[in-house]
Amino acid sequence: MSLRMMRSAGVRTGDGVIDVGGGAAPLVDELLGQGFTDLTVLDVSRVGMSYAQRRLGDTARRVTWVVADVLTWRPPRRYDLWHDRAVFHFLTDADDQRRYVDTLRAAVAPGGHLVIGTFAADGPTRCSGLAVARYGPEGLGERLGPGITVIAADREEHRTPSGTVQPFTWVLARRGRAG
Ligand SMILES: C[S@@+](CC[C@H](N)C(=O)[O-])C[C@H]1O[C@@H](n2cnc3c(N)ncnc32)[C@H](O)[C@@H]1O
Repeated sequence: MSLRMMRSAGVRTGDGVIDVGGGAAPLVDELLGQGFTDLTVLDVSRVGMSYAQRRLGDTARRVTWVVADVLTWRPPRRYDLWHDRAVFHFLTDADDQRRYVDTLRAAVAPGGHLVIGTFAADGPTRCSGLAVARYGPEGLGERLGPGITVIAADREEHRTPSGTVQPFTWVLARRGRAG
């Protein structure tokens, strides 16, 4: 879903891409394999990230790794694509959701894109022992606030390794040029 939505966004291999809460996810491996040259993975935990780094070996040097809390991180630059799979839905507090959106607005270039996957409105109510927020495409778009427009949405029935089905809402959104 991530790759499909990125393709729909028309992201090019030289574009700046940040995977927020990337953890140990293999998206970065796939993007390196596709020739992407400006990749950043941010996560509050060094642990998940270290799995990805070990998996990549020497290639990990081609990625910028940031250990930071997305709620307080001050982006040092702008990115063409913000990717978040299964992070925003852990923010159940309205202030935390606003802080996330503030970071996102500071990070995404005008005209840039966002690919965000969260639990769907009929998705799980908890994950890893934590309460989660659940979204349909409209609700997720509203939460991103003015100037960010959802341009495509999809639904995924994600099957976990233990066989549980988790419905996800995916949106592709675009930040307006006016910022
Ligand atoms: C469910 S995992 C998803 C990992 C990956 N995106 C994937 O799809 O496999 C959520 C990730 O978000 C990270 N995370 C949670 N809260 C965060 C925060 N406030 N700032 C940065 N990362 C956070 C966690 O450490 C974890 O790696």
